Amino acid sequence: MSEHNINTINMYSSGGAQEYIGHNEIDPEIEKWERLFNYVENQIKRDKTKRIIEFGSGCGQLAFMLQSAGYDVVATDIVDDFLKEQNRIGINKVKKYNFLIDNYDDIFDFKADLIVSWRNPHLDMDDMKKLFDVVYNGLSDNGLFIINFQNSEVHPEAELLPNGTKYNYKILEDKQTNEKRFYAYFSKEDIDNLRKDLFEIEEYHNEGGKEQKNWHVLTLRKIN
Ligand SMILES: C[S@@+](CC[C@H](N)C(=O)[O-])C[C@H]1O[C@@H](n2cnc3c(N)ncnc32)[C@H](O)[C@@H]1O
Repeated sequence: MSEHNINTINMYSSGGAQEYIGHNEIDPEIEKWERLFNYVENQIKRDKTKRIIEFGSGCGQLAFMLQSAGYDVVATDIVDDFLKEQNRIGINKVKKYNFLIDNYDDIFDFKADLIVSWRNPHLDMDDMKKLFDVVYNGLSDNGLFIINFQNSEVHPEAELLPNGTKYNYKILEDKQTNEKRFYAYFSKEDIDNLRKDLFEIEEYHNEGGKEQKNWHVLTLRKIN
């Protein structure tokens, strides 16, 4: 687990999560969540027998929407304030889980049909490699992995870590926070290198920002 992810978790645990939850109350981004919910449903073909785990659920909006629609979903996070928020909004299955440290099989007694990792730009290349291995192990045969990455193409100012991660530490313009956060940026080629021996691409598109290319969004299928 990188120092950057440790910094992020420390930041969320010492007030950052409360700020995040507060922003969410002011600007609930309903349209974005509906778009993601529809995307997830389409990818799993509205099959309610599928077992879903979300990694790093934050405030839990997606997990709550899936649960309300009748899906079997577990929300997770490692930050207590986020876990409390997930419980507060009524998610039935909430687990404390650090996907870079905890052993998946100690926390979950089943393999998932779908794992979602949404909007977690605080992972460097080594953290991402670990995440891909963990998801591969956690999925059932032919299981799906939905993940998004910030696109390095729209961040020419990014710096480079020795392990090949493009990154910076910053405060988002639209979300004033007290501390700078680590953001990592990936090219399509970086993503292909991460997934190529483990997953094939089921769906890929870009979205977000004026030019609809701030994020890479992928549904990956486990190669058995
Ligand atoms: C930017 S928030 C996004 C939350 C939510 N998925 C969303 O889209 O609003 C990133 C989330 O990932 C969680 N996270 C970061 N690193 C983690 C780790 N190693 N294990 C578990 N959760 C982690 C954070 O606590 C936070 O809730």
